Amino acid sequence: MTKPLRIGIAGLGTVGRGVVKILHKNKNLLRKRARRPIEVIAVSAKNKAKNRGISLESYNWENDPRVLACREDIDVFVELIGGHEGIAIEATKAAINSGKDVITANKAMLAHHGHELALQAESKGSAIRFEAAVAGGIPVVKCLTEGLAGNNVDRIIGVMNGTCNYILTRMESSGLSFEDIFAEAADLGYLEADPNLDVGGIDAGHKLSILASIAFGSQVNFGSVELEGINQISVEDIRQAADMGFRIKLLGIAKMTSRGLEQRMSPCLVPAESPLGQLEGGTNMIILEGDQVGQIILRGQGAGESPTSSAVLADIIDLAREIRPPIFGQPAKELTLFPPAKSESQTPFYLRLQLLDQPGALSKVAAILGKSDVSIDRMRQYGHDDETAPLVILTHKTTRESVDSAVSALPETRVLKGNPVALRIENV
Ligand code: HSE
Repeated sequence: MTKPLRIGIAGLGTVGRGVVKILHKNKNLLRKRARRPIEVIAVSAKNKAKNRGISLESYNWENDPRVLACREDIDVFVELIGGHEGIAIEATKAAINSGKDVITANKAMLAHHGHELALQAESKGSAIRFEAAVAGGIPVVKCLTEGLAGNNVDRIIGVMNGTCNYILTRMESSGLSFEDIFAEAADLGYLEADPNLDVGGIDAGHKLSILASIAFGSQVNFGSVELEGINQISVEDIRQAADMGFRIKLLGIAKMTSRGLEQRMSPCLVPAESPLGQLEGGTNMIILEGDQVGQIILRGQGAGESPTSSAVLADIIDLAREIRPPIFGQPAKELTLFPPAKSESQTPFYLRLQLLDQPGALSKVAAILGKSDVSIDRMRQYGHDDETAPLVILTHKTTRESVDSAVSALPETRVLKGNPVALRIENV
């Protein structure tokens, strides 16, 4: 019989448990596809006694993932612990040092240490596979690394955090506030242990920086992702955007510009009838644009036991088949650290202001926009009360820098109540 692929799994939470289940349930199918048996040799988790609804009897148990990572009888260390510091990276480094291949779902670890780990692994001849780290069940890493290997990638655009998309679409359908729907998402168990990873755009930013590395031959550089979360988004903005044919999405965009690599994660307006605009609930969507292939749209479940385990299984089978492309698509030592091109792209913007309803207020606002080189395309004043006149302005294409300069000068007019809202419009 062909030599089995022997694996050790560290972390038996939602994903670890899912992987064990699939390995058991689809054993024969996986053996045929991998052309060799896949055997779990040992597992590790915090609490051995916990009832996980799976049988662990036939596996060796290790209390310390770092010990599991170095066992002589495993070929592949599957890291499903999570967190960018501490035990996950220590065990990953230990596995690489002892010549193992690594499979991980840990986007935070790759976003912070991906380049260093890839250099270390490639110098040892080890592979690191991470399909499950980006967009759960969507095979976007494989698509970029292998399917689009013949293309110069022009742009990556996507909704990469299901929790944020759930919150935004539920705010729209229910008319409830961010705080109310955030509490609902917490009850449903959708939020990361640190919810700011989701709503602050950090989790999605991790994923974007990983994809940008493969797409543009860059060293993973999470530190230069421009990050903005969804916690300032109000139902009022969602309603006004909808009235004008848009929906608000937490959108990641990466592209190479003449000044360097632009990577940004921020809430944006997208046309409601576009594929991104139609994305509901916890679903993810990633759009890849290549110079040869044109546009590809990938849509699917970005989290959860089965979709994420499906991605881990794809990596296990690839290693069993000896499919070993360079970790980030080209040898790590050839990847470039590009300068960040912050906010270079020009797009239209959505501005919402509460004006005091008094003579000359609008002209003062228009003067500030003009001074900052921001040109008005469309404008509507609606729903006055006794004191204030809400105003929505759609601008012509301009830079984030110009809009920020206008927004910071607007209080000088003394005709504003509250803070202005400024969101990009992406016509994708
Ligand atoms: N919190 C993430 C999400 C899970 O909502 O998409 C997958 O990374």
